[in-house]
Amino acid sequence: MATPSTYSPTPDSTPADAENRWSTDNSADLYGVRNWGAGYFDIAANGEAVVTVTNGKRTEVSLLDIVEGMKERGLEMPAVLRIENVLDQRIKELNEAFARAISDAGYNNEYRGVFPIKVNQQCHVIEEIADFGSHYHHGLEAGSKAELIIALSQLKDHRSLIICNGYKDAEFIELGLYARQMGIPCFFVLETPTELPIILERSKALNIDPLIGVRIKSSVVVEGHWNEDSGDRSIFGLSTGGLLDVIDELKAADMLHCLQLLHCHLGSQIPNIRNIRSGVLEACRFYSGLIAEGAPMGYLDLGGGLAVDYEGARTNSTHSMNYQLDEYCVNIVETIRESLDPLNINHPVIVSESGRATVAYSSMLLFNILDVRNHEPSPLPVQLPEDAHELLHNLFAVLQAVDVQKFQECYNDALYYRDEVRELFRRGQTDLRARAMAENITLAVLEKLQNCSAR
Ligand SMILES: Cc1ncc(COP(=O)(O)O)c(C=O)c1O
Repeated sequence: MATPSTYSPTPDSTPADAENRWSTDNSADLYGVRNWGAGYFDIAANGEAVVTVTNGKRTEVSLLDIVEGMKERGLEMPAVLRIENVLDQRIKELNEAFARAISDAGYNNEYRGVFPIKVNQQCHVIEEIADFGSHYHHGLEAGSKAELIIALSQLKDHRSLIICNGYKDAEFIELGLYARQMGIPCFFVLETPTELPIILERSKALNIDPLIGVRIKSSVVVEGHWNEDSGDRSIFGLSTGGLLDVIDELKAADMLHCLQLLHCHLGSQIPNIRNIRSGVLEACRFYSGLIAEGAPMGYLDLGGGLAVDYEGARTNSTHSMNYQLDEYCVNIVETIRESLDPLNINHPVIVSESGRATVAYSSMLLFNILDVRNHEPSPLPVQLPEDAHELLHNLFAVLQAVDVQKFQECYNDALYYRDEVRELFRRGQTDLRARAMAENITLAVLEKLQNCSAR
């Protein structure tokens, strides 16, 4: 606040002006909430952050109200807030987007999603996915024996798939075979040829035909975070030669009829839709190659990779994505149909293992704000002392001469004089007070310039 003995950089701006200039829409824009919020998060007219859930009708809940409710129940921050309605909505959107793409393309099969347990192993998350997902026969992906036990205990719907990836020992395989005997579609996806003899031995011993899948190593290099682990550098999956060894071994054991699924996970958080299209195209070539070898097939599992636009930029940068959910589904469905139709191959069930895209929006970390720092302009003298350094006098003159017509010039001059004073300070030729004065005058210049530009 200006006093008669101090200099005010904006004598004619009032708090009301500032309020008029800034709105909740400005806040939403500044933090990009409407871009990364994907319709689940927003800033309400009263300035509070809200989460929006659609359950038949649209409901908006203030996060501050939730925090108040938590405090009343004696819950302390920090806390992880999980919103199961958002989780349900994601499962609904994913399944319905695939259903739309399938119907629009005249695709003759269906979609089955599975959630990879490793992406979020919290029991309330898995319970909710199994429970709500049963409307869509949404299943689970298990990467270990423990996860297979979780999947078997949670999935009540026997049309939901269980996809077993990861290394499998005899115990793991027996568990999956018993599930199969109970009518649960539980697939063993071969990551290495060494797993096959155990599967064949155990299934013969228990007299249960396994459902077998093969994970291929795609040559498609994806952009984004997993770029270096994709394509030929990927450590998971069978090489083409390894795949043929598996086929020959299945043929020799008279078990080729068990090979029904092809699995291909290109990487997580794939920001560019073109990589996804290329990956699906290559997977289709492998799929038709397996049919040509005599495997019945029926399922094409495209793994995870559906990205989350964490930064809301809608580009192919690492933490963003240059496509929408509908486009993702349309690209997959159309690529499969266009690749297999000319070969007269029946359309497979499309399986995807979306992890991050399923759960990312449904949980958030709430924490207390411990401190708020505002820029309070420091009071400046009306005049500088006669003996102040010449550079400070020059800087002060810039402040007094700020003019919208000379916007750039004033800005450049202010930074120049401030940096000169800092240089003197570094060399020990000026003191702390002079440096502070230079920095304060510069801030006053910047504030005055900002006020000029806002008018
Ligand atoms: C085999 C497999 N499937 C699915 C996923 C999930 O990927 P995303 O979270 O990108 O959907 C991963 C990685 O986490 C994976 O390794």
